Amino acid sequence: MRRIGILTSGGDCPGLNATIRGAAKACYQLFGTENVEIVGISDGYAGLINNMCKDMKPSDFSGILTRGGTIFGTKRTPYKKMRVIEEDNVDKVKAMKETYKKQRLDCLLTLGGNGTHKTANLLSQEGLNVIGLPKTIDNDIYGTSVTFGFHTAVDIATDVIDRLHSTADSHDRIMVVEIMGNKAGWLTLYSGIAGGADMIVIPEIPFDTDKLAEACVKRAQSGKAFSILAVAEGAYDKEEAKLKKKERARLRAEKGEVTASNRIAKEIEAKTGMETRVCVPGHMLRGGSPSAYDRVLATKFGVRAAQLIKEGKFGYTVAMVKSVVTENKLEDIAGKPKLVPMDDQLVITARDIGISFGD
Ligand code: F6P
Repeated sequence: MRRIGILTSGGDCPGLNATIRGAAKACYQLFGTENVEIVGISDGYAGLINNMCKDMKPSDFSGILTRGGTIFGTKRTPYKKMRVIEEDNVDKVKAMKETYKKQRLDCLLTLGGNGTHKTANLLSQEGLNVIGLPKTIDNDIYGTSVTFGFHTAVDIATDVIDRLHSTADSHDRIMVVEIMGNKAGWLTLYSGIAGGADMIVIPEIPFDTDKLAEACVKRAQSGKAFSILAVAEGAYDKEEAKLKKKERARLRAEKGEVTASNRIAKEIEAKTGMETRVCVPGHMLRGGSPSAYDRVLATKFGVRAAQLIKEGKFGYTVAMVKSVVTENKLEDIAGKPKLVPMDDQLVITARDIGISFGD
């Protein structure tokens, strides 16, 4: 008998359930239903720390392919706190290892983003059999060209930008749409291009509001009185780029700013006299059913995780490399976010059709 624990950690996204389903179905298929027991762990690593576990039945994994969110629930338990003993006096790493033992687990599947992978690597180095699965709408996990959840979010964000066109056009307005992505601009870049945004602002390319305002004026002079700016929530300007992250956050807090979108809108309006509006789709980008692409990707990733269990290959995370599903060592990818390179083909593509990055 094999006992396999599964948890989902960090922010949710479409495709978590499809991945869980793919892994579970493949485990039942590869080992025989009678030879495998799957243990669902609630609320990510918090559930592993507190032994919040439930033995699942094969039927629990049926009918969840299209369901958004995660059947196990999720929580953010920051990696940097994992080795810190807090007020509750709990040694988190020790507690996670105890739950693993108590539940008689043979391995643990951890579905999550960068933080989740760092803790997965820690647990692997502590001797647990861990396999990661790359989830995030941000697509910022090192070593994989794609994460599940990303393309669904691209579809939703593209739809938002599409819909803003007609209202921006009718009112001759500048629309600033804020897209999720704190460190990485992949989601803004993809949806900006797919939705035909006129300007794309991402954390990897600090912006200058003068340049953005100039681009709006240039468009107006060429006969288009409206413009759409796709702005990543983590974007910052060239002056902020000179500051340390903490200092940047302090100055923003002083101004009552969390993101730059409202400032960009206000400054463009002041510099050009054009009316501006801000639209923040926020968590809508993470909600609902996964796209067909993500359902297929999630199933392939889940199945690869089950194959890795069969091969006894632990300490890895599933990945897509050159269009082939494969795996990377957790120790090689943990703690290395994948940011948009300046010379990324998509950045060049955008520039070559006249999209301004405001730099
Ligand atoms: O990591 C995914 C993400 O969607 C980021 O783009 C965003 O900054 C963050 O999660 C917000 O998450 P939450 O509101 O759940 O803390």
